[in-house]
Amino acid sequence: MIEDLDDLQKKAEDEIGAAGTESEFLAIRTRYLGRKGLLTGVLRNVGQVEPEKRPLFGKRCNEIKEALSEKIEKALERIADLEKEEIFLRDRIDVTLPGRKIKYGRSHPISQVCREICHIFAGFGFAVVEGPEVELDYYNFEALNIPKNHPARDMQDTFYIEDNIVLRTHTSPVQIRTMEKQRPPVRILSPGRVYRPDSDISHTPMFHQIEGLLVDRGITFGDLKGVLTSFVSQMFGADISLRFRPSFFPFTEPSAEVDMQCVMCRGEGCRVCSHSGWLEILGSGMVDPEVFKNVGYDPEEFTGFAFGLGLERIAMLKYGISDIRLFFENNMRFLEQF
Ligand code: PHE
Repeated sequence: MIEDLDDLQKKAEDEIGAAGTESEFLAIRTRYLGRKGLLTGVLRNVGQVEPEKRPLFGKRCNEIKEALSEKIEKALERIADLEKEEIFLRDRIDVTLPGRKIKYGRSHPISQVCREICHIFAGFGFAVVEGPEVELDYYNFEALNIPKNHPARDMQDTFYIEDNIVLRTHTSPVQIRTMEKQRPPVRILSPGRVYRPDSDISHTPMFHQIEGLLVDRGITFGDLKGVLTSFVSQMFGADISLRFRPSFFPFTEPSAEVDMQCVMCRGEGCRVCSHSGWLEILGSGMVDPEVFKNVGYDPEEFTGFAFGLGLERIAMLKYGISDIRLFFENNMRFLEQF
């Protein structure tokens, strides 16, 4: 029996010597030392050993058990250490590597141009106000002297939410909302999103306008020209000429579209200005007396001017951008240039 024990030990030690992985060692442990293990089995048969040899037999069993268990524990520890070391090596931080650059955020070019324009008009005393993008037909059209079924509605294709609710097609409704709440003098600037069902190289279904409105006693077309001329020279340079071209808007009378000398060719004529030398930049005019009546202002007492400009258009001219859609595609290579 005792000799059997020696064999068993030898066999176990050979297996330990040949094992390499954690699971192999665990299997050996179970096979020899587990509850139904070989060594445990032998020990259970101690009754078959002659009584005088039993103490020695028990002692040997315990020695073998301890020896095997120690070997296996050591091997398992070694494996755990190796694993840890591997993890350390794999995850090691090389502090000598150059750092990764942090990307700085920045404002969208449209936001930048908007802020610049608001800043210039703040210098003329204009306060910034905002209005809703989902607007009542009344504010978007009717109060601005654009009656239902009037052909002037065709000037602005419209997204309808309901019969009397639209996505505003321009920022002009803010004129009405402001005048309804406030007596003259009025001097406001209103930037914001507007919507029209158009989409091509120079139109997107959503774009931005800035509305301007100034109402007081004795305001003339000369004031309109003075303010807009000063604005354009601050925005594009003092040497850019302006041209006021007669036009029509239902809410201004007289109305004028304002062209500025082409910033690309300085009036020589090029592709950008369709070889005319001029670029249209905004619509404007003296507030129509009908509009004043709609908000309860006396047109005999007050006069004023209004204008509306497209932010994308101004930004395109300022930065020489030929496709309006670039502003809304979120291409980082485009946006990072501003
Ligand atoms: N609301 C007009 C448009 O979108 C622009 C405009 C504003 C014209 C104010 C005159 C006065 O076309």
